[in-house]
Amino acid sequence: MVALLKGFGLPTNDLASASDLRLWVVEAEHSVFGVIGMERFGTCALLRSLAVAPSHQKRGIGHQLVAHLEKEAQSDRVEQLVLLTEAAETFFRAIGYEVTDRRYIPDEIRRTAEFSSLCPASALCMTKSLPS
Ligand SMILES: CC(C)(COP(=O)(O)OP(=O)(O)OC[C@H]1O[C@@H](n2cnc3c(N)ncnc32)[C@H](O)[C@@H]1OP(=O)(O)O)[C@@H](O)C(=O)NCCC(=O)NCCS
Repeated sequence: MVALLKGFGLPTNDLASASDLRLWVVEAEHSVFGVIGMERFGTCALLRSLAVAPSHQKRGIGHQLVAHLEKEAQSDRVEQLVLLTEAAETFFRAIGYEVTDRRYIPDEIRRTAEFSSLCPASALCMTKSLPS
């Protein structure tokens, strides 16, 4: 999983230290080829660490991972998902995420390692409200 994330330049240094992080992986034959994570802060959560191995992309796995995370988030009473992305704006727009200014993101999320130091300032911030 770490190798997969590192391969895309996604943050891994804080995986062990993040306070309330859940990760889901897709694996077969002892190999992880998909991963997604949710770092929760009250009613908001950071969608992070989404990656699908190049050999398995464009088969719907990315969408399935996000749909699974959203379902888990909703049943956990998360109301808003936030993410940072450099390369997947179109992917997320197609499933209801909107670009927003980092200033409008709750402080707890802006203080995460991913927001404050690990992800480049050039990364776009996107958000989606979940139905209650
Ligand atoms: C973004 C990412 C996770 C998408 O994963 P994926 O498994 O390819 O995603 P999907 O297959 O669900 O969807 C990708 C595209 O393939 C299309 N697709 C899905 N199933 C398909 C199929 N059976 N045949 C053809 N196309 C298909 C989707 O419509 C989608 O099209 P779009 O990009 O125009 O919206 C992947 O590209 C990735 O790991 N990128 C690098 C890491 C990254 O940027 N992560 C985001 C940081 S938060």
